[in-house]
Amino acid sequence: MTSVQRGAGPVAIVTGASSGIGRALALHLGANGYRVGLVARRRAELEAAANEIMQAGGSACVADADVGDRTALLAAVAAVESELGPTDVMVANAGFGATTRLNPLNTADVETTMRVNLMGVIYSLEAVLPGMLLRERGQLLAVSSLAAFKGLPGESAYCASKAAVNAYMEGLRIALRKRIVVTTVCPGFVKTAMGPMDTITPFMLTAEAAAARIARLIERRRGGVVCFPRRMAFLMGLVSRLPDGVVARLVPHDTGTLPVKATE
Ligand SMILES: NC(=O)c1ccc[n+]([C@@H]2O[C@H](COP(=O)([O-])OP(=O)(O)OC[C@H]3O[C@@H](n4cnc5c(N)ncnc54)[C@H](OP(=O)(O)O)[C@@H]3O)[C@@H](O)[C@H]2O)c1
Repeated sequence: MTSVQRGAGPVAIVTGASSGIGRALALHLGANGYRVGLVARRRAELEAAANEIMQAGGSACVADADVGDRTALLAAVAAVESELGPTDVMVANAGFGATTRLNPLNTADVETTMRVNLMGVIYSLEAVLPGMLLRERGQLLAVSSLAAFKGLPGESAYCASKAAVNAYMEGLRIALRKRIVVTTVCPGFVKTAMGPMDTITPFMLTAEAAAARIARLIERRRGGVVCFPRRMAFLMGLVSRLPDGVVARLVPHDTGTLPVKATE
């Protein structure tokens, strides 16, 4: 564990803080008075981000874990809390995406997607919710996606995992209303390692811009479902109403057709 403690700002844990949106959010929060716990699997990247926070005068510590491994994740959060104190804000951001293949169905990838994207969020909340309920305060955020609102060809597993996150968070939000702030964050395209490479990416944000929006939600204690950027959310609303044939033409995907063997 790497840490430096200065000041007594609120404690925020960000999962998936080794790259992309999570890394940018950890840096943003660290620069704005939060003591930040960074969690993901790649320790060297976590430590590099934590060092950046500390060099800028902030407080940070790291704990490596696979968010889909309940025992490891609970231990990582406990280690961060023993270093920084009780968690005020949990951002369950870590995520995984794999193209859905049809012939054969790549069910191992589907299992990983569900384990990381859904169970990883739930374990992250499990780790901090009892303490938040005792203190009667706290903020729980899950980074979902606009993909939660439409089952897209080639992205069935990813969309299903994010739709499940949205439904889970909605139930939690209603059950915890007036006690804990529960926020489901649904970004559109964001330029990261996971982000789209060779498809059409309207209104794409940088990781820093996405992180700044999430940080604003935390600062304002804004609960509910928050979709951004607004123009992409509108576009997704339109796409979700399109006939299947149009969506199939718009979104490149595996059709399950076996590759044709070359003949001599
Ligand atoms: N990029 C987009 O266009 C976009 C759009 C909407 C929503 N999102 C969501 O935003 C979140 C962050 O993604 P990103 O775009 O920033 O991608 P990214 O740069 O690939 O970052 C993903 C992060 O998740 C961590 N992670 C992945 N699997 C993990 C596991 N099993 N255990 C622990 N950590 C794990 C990775 O760290 P390690 O590899 O070190 O474990 C990394 O820090 C995801 O939930 C994603 O679904 C992304």
